[in-house]
Amino acid sequence: MAKRENWGSKLGFIMAAAGSAVGLGNIWKFPYTAGENGGGAFVLIYLFFVVVIGFSVMLAEFAVGRRKQLAAVGAFKSEDRRWTFAGALGVLSALLIMGFYPVVGGWSLAYVGKVFTGLLSAPDAIGTTFDSFITNPFVPLMWMVGYLVLNIMIVVKGISTGIEKAGKVLMPLLFGILIAISIKGLTLPGAMAGMEFLFKPNFSVVNPSVVLAALGQAFFSLSLGMGIMITYGSYLPKHENLVSNAAIVTVMDTAVALLAGIAMFPAMFAFGITPAQGPGLVFVVVPTIFAEMGGMGTVFAGLFFIALSVAALTSSVSLLEVVVAYLIDEKGFNRPKAVVTASTVMVALCVLASLSLGDVGPKLFGKGAFDVFDLLTDKIFLAFGGFFVSIFAGWKLSKSDLKNEVTNGGSVKFAIFNVWYVLIKFIIPLTILWVAYGGIKEGFESGAGPIMIIGLVIIAITGIFSRKL
Ligand code: PHE
Repeated sequence: MAKRENWGSKLGFIMAAAGSAVGLGNIWKFPYTAGENGGGAFVLIYLFFVVVIGFSVMLAEFAVGRRKQLAAVGAFKSEDRRWTFAGALGVLSALLIMGFYPVVGGWSLAYVGKVFTGLLSAPDAIGTTFDSFITNPFVPLMWMVGYLVLNIMIVVKGISTGIEKAGKVLMPLLFGILIAISIKGLTLPGAMAGMEFLFKPNFSVVNPSVVLAALGQAFFSLSLGMGIMITYGSYLPKHENLVSNAAIVTVMDTAVALLAGIAMFPAMFAFGITPAQGPGLVFVVVPTIFAEMGGMGTVFAGLFFIALSVAALTSSVSLLEVVVAYLIDEKGFNRPKAVVTASTVMVALCVLASLSLGDVGPKLFGKGAFDVFDLLTDKIFLAFGGFFVSIFAGWKLSKSDLKNEVTNGGSVKFAIFNVWYVLIKFIIPLTILWVAYGGIKEGFESGAGPIMIIGLVIIAITGIFSRKL
């Protein structure tokens, strides 16, 4: 059997895993979700979930992947065929996320161009420019395809040469730009109100759907619950410390999300813009903020959208890789054929998602494809993916096997192994069920309930049919 490709270096792995985690989820989704869910209390619950559930599930995924040195589906299936569905669900989530993620990635690319061709010179028109851009049937499609082509170019080159090189160059650049924007925002008069909104919890706005949104955000942002970290872990050499790798990736991802919040909210409050802007937040608010800053604003805004595109790219590459790794490991495709097959399906889904924003195309319970893909993955599939990984690690694997994998046969010190084990075995699965139950119940009031139930039905169907995969 051919030796499995390994990461070129530890830094390369961290950069690629953090590159997967840090993306539109941190810079596009986190700020608008925090804004829509009332700020501080949401942020606090999100942070709690990241530390307790996110870190633990990431460690479990690394361990499950490296143990068998197989990607998502293979790692489950080689243990027990009845578990194939957990991997299959991950591949399905990756496909569905790639049904809308490249649409937003395409917006980001388009905005690099827009910023440098005069978007900021008419600040009052920025909101309408965004609306007419995303509802246009053709232009966003072209950007989406351009964005996907960039993904294909990276993934087709294979794991260590493609993904790793891209991550190494692009991640530090992103971090630097965000820090620069944050400093700029914090020095504006009135900026502190934004910090208060973001960090001072007001628990009276918390309801079960805020809690589910925080859980979904934690999974989405950390790239958990769908086999990404299983797949990446499968490429890790046996001597690597899984605990410290999981901790580093979790901290980096969370730092970038908080930094994105600090880059946006203080400046928004300084300029009197309301926080509940929805998915247009970065695309409307950031250019507006920079437009009001005069000349340097164009440069800052340009850098911002370059950073956003870069962050998006290193994430979507990992999503594409989940599907590609599945086709290679389980279906015997060669890499180019796997990439072409996966991205063809993704383009089709993205076309539906993009058109739905202009109110074109089919609807499900009154929601367009973009919202349906987002709801299904973020609120249902990822949380249940995390649930299944925890059950698998906690109940299917023996405690000693798991301990062996996590501590490299006893050579890595992990003092709280037992705490982590209880979390994975009992507390995390129960918490996920409880949060999902509350969120779905509440979801019926906002019209999202039926789609969430469809998500559960899809999970059940995957469970029944995936043994054939
Ligand atoms: N974590 C990525 C982000 O924050 C998105 C993502 C989700 C990537 C799930 C892979 C898996 O943008």
